[in-house]
Amino acid sequence: MNIIDNLKWRYATKKFDTTKKVSAENLELLKEAVNLSASSYGLQPFKILIIENPEIREKLRAAAWGQPQITDSSHLLLFCNYLEVGPEKVDGYLKLRADINNLKLEDSKDYGDMMKSLMVALTPEQMEVWTSKQTYIALGTLLAAAAELKIDSCPMEGFDKVEFNKILGLNEKGLSASVIGAVGYRSQDDPYVVFKKVRKPLAELFETI
Ligand SMILES: Cc1cc2nc3c(=O)[nH]c(=O)nc-3n(C[C@H](O)[C@H](O)[C@H](O)COP(=O)(O)O)c2cc1C
Repeated sequence: MNIIDNLKWRYATKKFDTTKKVSAENLELLKEAVNLSASSYGLQPFKILIIENPEIREKLRAAAWGQPQITDSSHLLLFCNYLEVGPEKVDGYLKLRADINNLKLEDSKDYGDMMKSLMVALTPEQMEVWTSKQTYIALGTLLAAAAELKIDSCPMEGFDKVEFNKILGLNEKGLSASVIGAVGYRSQDDPYVVFKKVRKPLAELFETI
């Protein structure tokens, strides 16, 4: 199974080769893979910022305990969750769903009402937990897709979300920084290149009942 070999090949890259860039074509493939991720109800309650601007990346690095992947990776993907999923977002999704599948929009009213009533019942904190959880699924897809393309990556949550939100003005846009996927190519000087995978035995991780 190729996926096993690819997952063994990938590792959380600490040191990227700053001279190597992910091609525009591969970046489009990564974007498509992320877009094909599963999400709760299919609502995709997040947005992904691809941060190229070097000055902004320097500022973000300072808010990420100086981690070099922030400035040195080829592309920095910041997964941002929506702070709120209101009725208009549900309606937007239902319209897209109806258009793509040639459905009558009226026929999804009950489904829409059910989703809206579930969203309304969430406190702002519960809403944030729920929307940010969705970003982690998309991040997982990014890591697996990157590995298939032999693109290195580092998942990252070691950063100050409040600072990131301020630097990027995210709250004003109804968003909050959730998690990062840095992608690029490993530097052969990265000490982790030779580090062996540390994983539990399958018998400990799984239990059949
Ligand atoms: C959600 C998440 C956040 C992480 N945050 C960081 C981080 O901020 N910096 C870092 O160097 N590695 C980070 N890692 C990488 C993990 O330490 C790494 O995935 C783990 O040790 C397993 O090693 P492997 O991915 O190389 O197999 C993070 C991983 C995940 C899944």
